[in-house]
Amino acid sequence: SSASTTIINGKPYPKDAWTNTLPSIVSYLGRNLHLQPGHPISITRKLIESIFPGYKFHNTLSPIVSVGQNFDSLGFPADHVGRNRTDTYYVNKDTVLRTHTSAHQADVFAADESDGWLISADVYRRDAIDRSHYPVFHQMEGARTWDRSKLPPGTTMAQTILDDLTTLPKHNVEVSDPNPTIIPESNPLQAEYHSIDEVEAASAHLKRSLENVVVEIFTQARRAAIIAAGNDATATAEEEPLQVRWVTAYFPFTSPSWELEVFWQGEWLEVLGCGIVKQDIMLNAGVGSRFGWAFGVGLERIAMLLFSIPDIRLFWSTDPRFLSQFSSTAPSAAGGKTSSNSGAADSGEGKHTFNITRFVPFSKHPACPKDVSFWTNSAFDDTNIQQFHENDMMELVRDIAGSSAESVSLIDEFTHPKTGRRSVCYRVNYRSLERTLTSDEANAMHERLREKLVETLGVELR
Ligand code: PHE
Repeated sequence: SSASTTIINGKPYPKDAWTNTLPSIVSYLGRNLHLQPGHPISITRKLIESIFPGYKFHNTLSPIVSVGQNFDSLGFPADHVGRNRTDTYYVNKDTVLRTHTSAHQADVFAADESDGWLISADVYRRDAIDRSHYPVFHQMEGARTWDRSKLPPGTTMAQTILDDLTTLPKHNVEVSDPNPTIIPESNPLQAEYHSIDEVEAASAHLKRSLENVVVEIFTQARRAAIIAAGNDATATAEEEPLQVRWVTAYFPFTSPSWELEVFWQGEWLEVLGCGIVKQDIMLNAGVGSRFGWAFGVGLERIAMLLFSIPDIRLFWSTDPRFLSQFSSTAPSAAGGKTSSNSGAADSGEGKHTFNITRFVPFSKHPACPKDVSFWTNSAFDDTNIQQFHENDMMELVRDIAGSSAESVSLIDEFTHPKTGRRSVCYRVNYRSLERTLTSDEANAMHERLREKLVETLGVELR
């Protein structure tokens, strides 16, 4: 019965105390924006794929994965916050909706003998509600590895990688990279398995490969801005030089690890995470002779700045006023050759066949802000009611209002000095991207939210 199972793609999954995946979330499975021709997420995917000639693409892996795939196989500790029910959609205690494309690293390393591969997919996270967060988004994962047992005779791993580095396109953007490759306390060498020379070579290859992604994306974004400026007196074309920097990072499944940041419209934006793959992942996948790097990038963030899309909810719109603004290919350049598997030295004209244009917002409908105040359960309560977590409230809002919720923000909070109880006030901004909400509709959603807060989270309204 539906009370004890969740049906996903026709298959029943038994529910248990871990289940927190509502039908409203299940309904996103199968939308596959990254595969929808002409969709900005799909165009962004193809643009990045074109920068990795010869890589194998995996674009249809199932979003339903085991806790083992999503966390254990990657070395996430048992008490890692990412495993919490407040952060992750559990189908049941053993099964989750993948929270990142890294969930497939081990399987793809085991099954795909290619030296380079890319995975693009929808991923799911319980999170805040605002213009840049949505419970479903898309990531691309990539890896480049070399097989120690297949090195050209008479050469080393490090030399092979450096030789391959010389075949990558060069860019002329200035990159800040002040840190040493290996920082023993925070970003150690996997000394049991790798030599310093190998890691230096692989990180140089990783950095150039990923800088090329960012340079290509921002060159395209700037070109779109310049074209828009030519058409529209209010738009300004960015003239500042592109600035890029490497910062050290931590992921349980890479060491050393980095993030790549780009200075865009006045702030440093974190664009992707990457690092040298933990050798344990390769060993567990039965490919211990492989060595190399991996990265992960969020496609919505890239698409939002490529096309100047102001709100992440727009990607889910089926309104032709949104979708008709994008097309997958440009009027093809003279000669029209778009071989994405052509020579690596081709950094120029060949791949600029993407039609990146600025999104022109259609009319903005009025916002309906509504506040709700309540006492959360505090540590001083000796009831056995669960502790209030903000993400549980976000989930209620999403379930009730769907994409008519633009943002939810904490606007006031205080702790009662005697009882230790915490009082909070949240502002929920209701606004549809596609039409004007009536005040009756907004009031009805808000009233339902107030009821559900009491009913399912046990808070006390004020
Ligand atoms: N999975 C990481 C994330 O979602 C990104 C990542 C992928 C980092 C691969 C390193 C290597 O943030």
